[in-house]
Amino acid sequence: MKTIGETQEIVQDNLFPISYNTTMGTTLVRPAPLTTKTNISAGLGKPIVTVRKPSSIKSLSESASERIFKIGNQTIGFHQKDCLQFLAGLPSESLDVIVTDPAYSGMNNRLKLGKGRIVGKYLDKGKDAGKWFSEFEDTIENYKSFLSKCKSALKKNGHIYIMFDSFSLLSLAPIVRQYFDVKNIIVWDKVNVGMGHYYRRRHEFILFATNGNNRNIKHRAFPDIWRIKRIHQSHYPTQKPVEIFDIMLSASAKPGFTVCDPFMGSASAAVAAIKHGCNFVGADISPKSINLSAKRIEIFALDGMDLLQPNSCVPEGEKVFW
Ligand SMILES: C[S@@+](CC[C@H](N)C(=O)[O-])C[C@H]1O[C@@H](n2cnc3c(N)ncnc32)[C@H](O)[C@@H]1O
Repeated sequence: MKTIGETQEIVQDNLFPISYNTTMGTTLVRPAPLTTKTNISAGLGKPIVTVRKPSSIKSLSESASERIFKIGNQTIGFHQKDCLQFLAGLPSESLDVIVTDPAYSGMNNRLKLGKGRIVGKYLDKGKDAGKWFSEFEDTIENYKSFLSKCKSALKKNGHIYIMFDSFSLLSLAPIVRQYFDVKNIIVWDKVNVGMGHYYRRRHEFILFATNGNNRNIKHRAFPDIWRIKRIHQSHYPTQKPVEIFDIMLSASAKPGFTVCDPFMGSASAAVAAIKHGCNFVGADISPKSINLSAKRIEIFALDGMDLLQPNSCVPEGEKVFW
């Protein structure tokens, strides 16, 4: 065991002012009380909300393309891979829940939003210094391949949540019925309007389906409209609020379950999985995603602070239903 105080400081940036050198096989435990909390808060200029008790974290694999952590008895793995290759490599029927927010190409290829602002960023997609990530070519053939691989990896009666924009909802969502029992389309109300010429966008869709009919969600009273504010000035393009994944896992997961996100981005789904006592296995094609996610998770596990989403996205004064 090693304490943070003894580790080397290797990175100094605004987002991650402290570096956690999780040498493979070394368990890091932050000594309490946490004196650096105010520094981190000052760096971001936002108050920190502590959402989890500090814990210890052990790094089991630290290659450029694979980061695996042990947090107590939870295993959290991030893999830099194409989603199809990643899903094909998972043992069959090994996942309890899939929650995912795919990088669809359809909407961006066809729609130009906000005087080209999204399109401007979009031109450098996938490049190292680029602000936009590369996308999954969402042809019908590719999407079917994605769904069939999700189905093989998901346990019988497992649950799957797939996010859709308004374009892909019409083109791709109907295909999900060929693989899963589609139970509902949930509306994520982002509370504040975003871009869009023909009615400014304030919502996204989340399709909920099951792989068989023998497992219910936890509460029958959960509504199918979720009011959760979008993230402004995110640290990762299209970073989603952790609360979105929190709701999914409140409904569909128990401690010890294995949760998967094959388009994990900044690992918001992994943060929710940790909070729910679940294991997590995720993939993203981008090395940036894996690096940023690893740092996010290390600090979250050690200090209980989510530096990528320091504030709750639940609208003020509203009660949570999950
Ligand atoms: C919409 S973002 C996910 C955002 C994430 N939910 C979050 O909260 O940060 C989609 C992600 O899919 C990744 N991606 C694009 N094509 C991919 C592929 N073929 N396989 C795996 N990941 C891919 C992108 O790099 C991007 O990080």
